[in-house]
Amino acid sequence: MAGYISDDNRKVTTHRLIEMKKRGEKISMLTSYDYTTAQIVDGAGIDVILVGDSASNVMAGNVTTLPITLDQMIYHGKSVVRGVKRALVIVDMPFGSYQGNELEGLSSAIRIMKESHADALKMEGGEEIIPTVKRIISAGIPVMGHLGLMPQSINKYGTYAVRAKDNDEAEKLIRDAHLLEEAGCFGLVLEKIPAELATRVAKELTIPVIGIGAGSGVDGQVLVVTDMLGMTNGFRPRFLRLYADLNEIMTSAIGRYVEDVKSGDFPNEKEQY
Ligand code: KIV
Repeated sequence: MAGYISDDNRKVTTHRLIEMKKRGEKISMLTSYDYTTAQIVDGAGIDVILVGDSASNVMAGNVTTLPITLDQMIYHGKSVVRGVKRALVIVDMPFGSYQGNELEGLSSAIRIMKESHADALKMEGGEEIIPTVKRIISAGIPVMGHLGLMPQSINKYGTYAVRAKDNDEAEKLIRDAHLLEEAGCFGLVLEKIPAELATRVAKELTIPVIGIGAGSGVDGQVLVVTDMLGMTNGFRPRFLRLYADLNEIMTSAIGRYVEDVKSGDFPNEKEQY
């Protein structure tokens, strides 16, 4: 079988990710939203599985990540956790579940951890969410930060274009990254920012920095699994590398099934009781 399978079958922990950064070992991360995909992704040797709120787009067909609810994220989280033996499982806190105040954030975080059995959470935002991040971490829940393009703020940005290209936004991002590390985050996702800026942040922080559209100078990479497998029709941003064309493979397989049913070729004698 092609690819990389770690000979270390121990469960990945947040502590091990920090150790990986120290020894310069890159961290691999992909999203998953369901049991079957999570089993495959975990079995292929991924380090971290993110139950991303991108489920709102790629599972539910919404235009943004905003509509997905806490209950729906818990459902996806639970399904993924059941399929995973080795990877660290992180669940995204959905829009509206933590922006109100620290206690609202804490009770959402506790619900996700209790009901999904995930290992950690991810939250979008910098300075403005630091009190909530600290409150959640003080309850013993590991948190990963997320800066740069933050899809939950799409209505503020108005576009999914590259973030932090100007000095002021880049300086704010660097400050926010340090604040998240100081607040106790175990890792940070940087989405769609210039590679040079992402490299600087990864060098300045001791916690692992995982990039998506943030170049190669970070400590690991994350992609949306349905995008890298070529399932998401027509979504081809520059940062995406296609590892398969499952859209083509699935369409052709289903087309052959339709033909076989219509022609009466399926099922044959061996395929019946
Ligand atoms: O929801 C998601 O899939 C994410 C990744 C793009 C990092 O947050």
